[in-house]
Amino acid sequence: MKRDVIIACDFASREQTMAFLDKFTQEKPFVKIGMELFYAEGPEIVREIKRRGHKIFLDLKLCDIPNTVQKAMAVLSRLDVDMTNLHAFGTVEMMEAAIRGLTRPDGTRPLLIAVTQLTSTSQERMERDLLIEKPLPEVVIHYAKNARLAGLDGVVCSPLESGVVHQACGEEFVTVTPGVRFAGGDAGDQVRVTTPARAKELGSNFIVVGRPITGAEDPVAAYRRAVAEFVND
Ligand code: C5P
Repeated sequence: MKRDVIIACDFASREQTMAFLDKFTQEKPFVKIGMELFYAEGPEIVREIKRRGHKIFLDLKLCDIPNTVQKAMAVLSRLDVDMTNLHAFGTVEMMEAAIRGLTRPDGTRPLLIAVTQLTSTSQERMERDLLIEKPLPEVVIHYAKNARLAGLDGVVCSPLESGVVHQACGEEFVTVTPGVRFAGGDAGDQVRVTTPARAKELGSNFIVVGRPITGAEDPVAAYRRAVAEFVND
């Protein structure tokens, strides 16, 4: 099973991001670029990090009518990202359109990952605000199955959910899991946290690690620790 550590580059500017990446002189970590950095710096930040030799997960969580998502995905595919995502909430039709948009003329495409229910959504809010009355775990698995049906590669979920997602959607269906903290580290605003070693045991394919690496005194050492625990034996 393939596994890698993705560093969440949750910085507000190009300068901060490059200063951080400059610390990595030996390895080229897989990095996640989210809305904050992308909206601040535009597509050039993606090209620049790509030119430096990093793999990129562009975390923009698209959700719109199928035609719009298809066209937007075609643009992201030309940016040559390695992984991107959307909201499964946009329906199977939207996810199928996204795959069409993302697929390059030579048949290759970045990995496409679905967000099921955001972890900020509680059962109570889902019922009250969205009028969805099924149990939250059932909704998450249903959305994951929809993503699989549409031909997507996987979902973003907690490492604690990796097992049930693989059971429902197959071992090759990828789980990308945030909420990772080193043993003895500060959980911050994450509620349910897992160590890299535990995420590996639970079957995660990619862990997304932000502050435990970006906020570490020695980010390179922290990254190496995550790789040693999660990727290597
Ligand atoms: O700093 P930290 O390790 O908490 O960063 C985790 C990253 O994963 C952040 O970019 C955060 O937005 C993202 N994420 C998350 N929980 C989700 C989905 C995404 O923490 N359910």
